[in-house]
Amino acid sequence: MSFKDMESVAQAMVVPGKGILAADESSPTIKKRFDLIDTKSTEESRRTYREMLFTTPGLADYISGVILYDETLRQKTADGVLFPALLANMGVIPGIKVDTGAKDLAAFPGEKITEGLDGLRERLAEYHEMGARFAKWRAVITIGDGIPSDFCLQANSHALARYAALCQEAAIVPIVEPEVLMDGKHTLAACEEVTNRALTLVFAALAEHRVHLPAIVLKPNMVISGSECADRAGPREVAEATVRCLAAQVPAEVPGIAFLSGGQSAEQATEHLGIMNTMGPHPWKLSFSYGRALQAPALAAWQGQDERLGDGQQALIKRARLNGLASSGGYTNDMESAA
Ligand code: 13P
Repeated sequence: MSFKDMESVAQAMVVPGKGILAADESSPTIKKRFDLIDTKSTEESRRTYREMLFTTPGLADYISGVILYDETLRQKTADGVLFPALLANMGVIPGIKVDTGAKDLAAFPGEKITEGLDGLRERLAEYHEMGARFAKWRAVITIGDGIPSDFCLQANSHALARYAALCQEAAIVPIVEPEVLMDGKHTLAACEEVTNRALTLVFAALAEHRVHLPAIVLKPNMVISGSECADRAGPREVAEATVRCLAAQVPAEVPGIAFLSGGQSAEQATEHLGIMNTMGPHPWKLSFSYGRALQAPALAAWQGQDERLGDGQQALIKRARLNGLASSGGYTNDMESAA
């Protein structure tokens, strides 16, 4: 695949009206989600749950791509269709999480470094063969007393850039995800300062590693107050600070920015994206790549019960549709009760 083909994939991932479903929870993470609904996490229960999500009627109207986990990429529907083939046949692009998780950064207490570069070239070749056309790598940045350090930001930017260059070599579009966590008491201003620092270093590293920016998708956090901040900023402030930060940091060649939800409620994540898309025009598309903000309502409706699979799908399609509207500037709050 040429850069041109990867550019087309990147553009399709962030086409207005659609966004990405992040369904790439590792087995330990999906277990935490299943624990909340008293459902045992087994290979079969995970398969059933993902089949419920992916076979939701109308999903392809609002979802451009799905991020899968290694296990999920190899699983099939009850009828024997591999999930990547099922998605591709629906016109939904299959993607794959390729990092192997955020580990403690030695000598830097409280900070993380994402692992997974060793053997990545070979894994990417296999994933491409299996139908993946984009990948995801998540760097985790914590705000706290004296952190993040410049060293942590640099180390994570370096890893993200090495990953992105390897993806493009394998004809796979990299989702570049530096996530500044919402955990903590910090203010919106502190999140803006750290997100600015993080993105400056990420784009410097991408340039040094000769990553072709028209063939990436950036997946950042929104600029938002810490979840335990005493005086949390409202939706318009969040939208304005996020757009201000991205406008300062993200080159116009980047085709699209697909936010993570990061622990925001489903409705907040939609509202914030909706406001940002009424503030344009922006040089890049602003879309979503939500995990929890798309799936939490579906999990709650499903409850691990076969007779509630349809309820789970209805909950998912509602969030997908409203986020689709938010990605094209057509969302208003009153749609929540009408839907
Ligand atoms: P959340 O939207 O739940 O933050 O997940 C998105 C994601 O893929 C994090 O890596």
